[in-house]
Amino acid sequence: MAVTTTRTIELSTREGYDLSVLACGEGPCVILIHGFPLDATFWHRQMQPLADAGCLAIAPDLRGFGRSGINTDRLTPADSAEDIERIRQHVAGEQPVVLVGVSMGGYIALESIARFPQTVAGLVLCNTKPGADSAEGRAGREAMAAKALAASSAEATAPMIPRLLCEQTRLQKPHVVSELTQWMERVPAKTIAAAQRGMAVRRDFTDRLPFIQVPTTVIAGEFDPIAPAEEGRTWASRIPNAAFEVIESAGHLPQIEQPEAFNAMLLSALRRISW
Ligand code: MLT
Repeated sequence: MAVTTTRTIELSTREGYDLSVLACGEGPCVILIHGFPLDATFWHRQMQPLADAGCLAIAPDLRGFGRSGINTDRLTPADSAEDIERIRQHVAGEQPVVLVGVSMGGYIALESIARFPQTVAGLVLCNTKPGADSAEGRAGREAMAAKALAASSAEATAPMIPRLLCEQTRLQKPHVVSELTQWMERVPAKTIAAAQRGMAVRRDFTDRLPFIQVPTTVIAGEFDPIAPAEEGRTWASRIPNAAFEVIESAGHLPQIEQPEAFNAMLLSALRRISW
């Protein structure tokens, strides 16, 4: 297949701050929502395969990440869902889209379908969870926010690596470790703090899962300590039209740890959706 050029679309948030979006291909629209603390380039192994499959792949830099601006000390999944809807209107007009969210991106996808149900044709929820934070989880987020602001993004995020990548990835794929490290270090400290404080106050969607009407695929990593596979199997079973899949030899980020297996699963998830 010919290589499709990835282009950049420049938009703005409702308040007028920059929103930068990568786009590749033409066709039904798939919006790829990155996790924390990443940006749109996280999805670069998925863009071309989606374009080859006849889709328009859209990967936003969420507010404050990558080339998108930030204007707030607290960035909630609800704020980002508003930005995703703005992007969706720009790229897809009246057409519903498929939302693919990883971890924090999954919190945003759940917020999006709750706010804008008519705009979502299907969901792919990866390495995520529907629940809200415990008190301990919120305290950990505030500690990371404080560390980023007092020291640096690099110091605040370095301890995340063993939780994001499984042991096999860390031992056998050092290029993935250094790529992830570079992405995390370039996130501004203000964004680290704002996103942590925003995730700490996110809604609990557990009781809403039975009301999700669209075809949904929940994907977990075999060794993910943040969104464990067995928990994923349990909450996925509460969504009426959901499939549940596990990617072997992957931790929290199968999209970069096992990209071929992940892409095959993503394309098969899209085949379950008519849009
Ligand atoms: C992510 O990968 O987006 C984060 O681990 C989500 C979180 O901190 O809850």
